[in-house]
Amino acid sequence: MRYLTFALTKGRLADKTLERFEKIGITCEEMKDKSSRKLIFVNEEKKLKFFLAKGPDVPTYVEHGAADIGVSGKDIIMEENRHIYEVLDLGFGKCRMCICGFPEAAELLNHHEMIKVATKYPRIARDYFHNKKFQTVDIIKLNGSIELAPIVGLSDVICDIVETGSTLRENGLSVLEEVCPLSARMVVNQVSMRMEAERIREIINALREVQE
Ligand code: PRP
Repeated sequence: MRYLTFALTKGRLADKTLERFEKIGITCEEMKDKSSRKLIFVNEEKKLKFFLAKGPDVPTYVEHGAADIGVSGKDIIMEENRHIYEVLDLGFGKCRMCICGFPEAAELLNHHEMIKVATKYPRIARDYFHNKKFQTVDIIKLNGSIELAPIVGLSDVICDIVETGSTLRENGLSVLEEVCPLSARMVVNQVSMRMEAERIREIINALREVQE
């Protein structure tokens, strides 16, 4: 039996993923040691390997077959647009992709005039404005603290993740439109899905069962 390799998103998402995996008997004791600097963790008995990666890199590892299975946010999966199969909504890490700004900016979304949109997700923002709203926009790519953009006058609105809404509230901003709901998803390499169909299907089914 060959190893099945999992790419997990570093941080809170990995912790939640491992919690869920434990429920179906997929464990990796080695990974629980937070002080460890190891990059790859192995469950010899079940022939499983795990590694942690930055969110946007998870679909890359899975597309190239360096990992058979990955878990990352739907935002990342949409933005990266890789040739991978999205097989399961894990139901945690729930939040929303939204267009946000000062309340006065709402009016700008009702016309087809050119507006500036700051975002960490240029593909998602472009797709939303071009294909759903038929509005021409100037996309400004940022790498974080997106809420700053309308405050300092860099953009009219932002396209960003809203979880509790407190970052918006504390800065006088609001949700103007919802683009789509988000949550953690399991993705699979297209070749692995065929070559390791039985083992992978078993995992998907077990995860579905514990979710129900
Ligand atoms: C995300 C997102 C918002 C915030 C939303 O940022 O970009 O800024 O969380 O959460 P809330 O609705 O609960 O306030 P993150 O903390 O990941 O960091 P970033 O701003 O550097 O992207």
